[in-house]
Amino acid sequence: MSATARITAPTPSEIRARKGGTPLVCLTAYTTPIAQLVDPHCDIVLVGDSLGMVLHGLPSTLGVTMEMMSLHGAAVARGLKQAMMVVDMPFASYEESPEQAFGNAARLMRETGCAAVKLEGGVEMAETIRFLTARSIPVMAHIGLTPQAINTLGGYKVQGRGEDAARVLADAKAVAEAGAFSVVLEKVPAALGDEITAAIDIPTIGIGASAGCDGQILVVDDMLGLFTAFKPKFAKRYAELGKSADAAIAAYAAEVRARAFPAPEHVFGDAAPEPKK
Ligand code: KIV
Repeated sequence: MSATARITAPTPSEIRARKGGTPLVCLTAYTTPIAQLVDPHCDIVLVGDSLGMVLHGLPSTLGVTMEMMSLHGAAVARGLKQAMMVVDMPFASYEESPEQAFGNAARLMRETGCAAVKLEGGVEMAETIRFLTARSIPVMAHIGLTPQAINTLGGYKVQGRGEDAARVLADAKAVAEAGAFSVVLEKVPAALGDEITAAIDIPTIGIGASAGCDGQILVVDDMLGLFTAFKPKFAKRYAELGKSADAAIAAYAAEVRARAFPAPEHVFGDAAPEPKK
């Protein structure tokens, strides 16, 4: 459970009320130090199941477990002061029945202190979203490209092109009508992102969608240049921390091999008092 009291975190209904206002700023986080870095800048911090790929080296999000989400969720909660925390429901933790979804969502809320859960799916998940929201579990929906469904979607393809737009629009309407307080739109054509944003009364949060969405989200390791296995088109790099880290580690290795590290200022004498830190 969170050790930090997030007194000023926006509630799901406050986020919902931001529809059409200043765009919502959202990022993922998976650890306490990154949560501390993103917290002052974000409205919503998502503990995404992308952690399976970016932290644990899994080939997709399908291998992510409840235990992983709970552990990382609790770590993120300890780093947040003001942003709202949402935790992803992992694959196979909610699809079976609304009751299964309730049990696992309640567990994530209890073990992490998150304010809401996110689950993937549109029309087919509307009943579950209605069941959860009627029982005090706020839900962020996720439609368009839903990575937990890559095996049925045929990969990480843009969703909703041409005639397929009607399907994604119907998903958006279904999750909004079922009571989701916001919806992530992943990898849909920009015009469809705009159309959905205009058609529903809950905030749309785009990732590879449109600048016209009510908010944007990125995977933090993508935008910091820490995850480099591949780079989706929508994942703008705001820093190249992976390259900086590589240079730092190479410098350390060279200094160790040359016996240049540790230097005298990094070692201890027999008599001198030890510095506090
Ligand atoms: O798992 C995740 O990080 C996500 C975002 C990409 C929206 O679902």
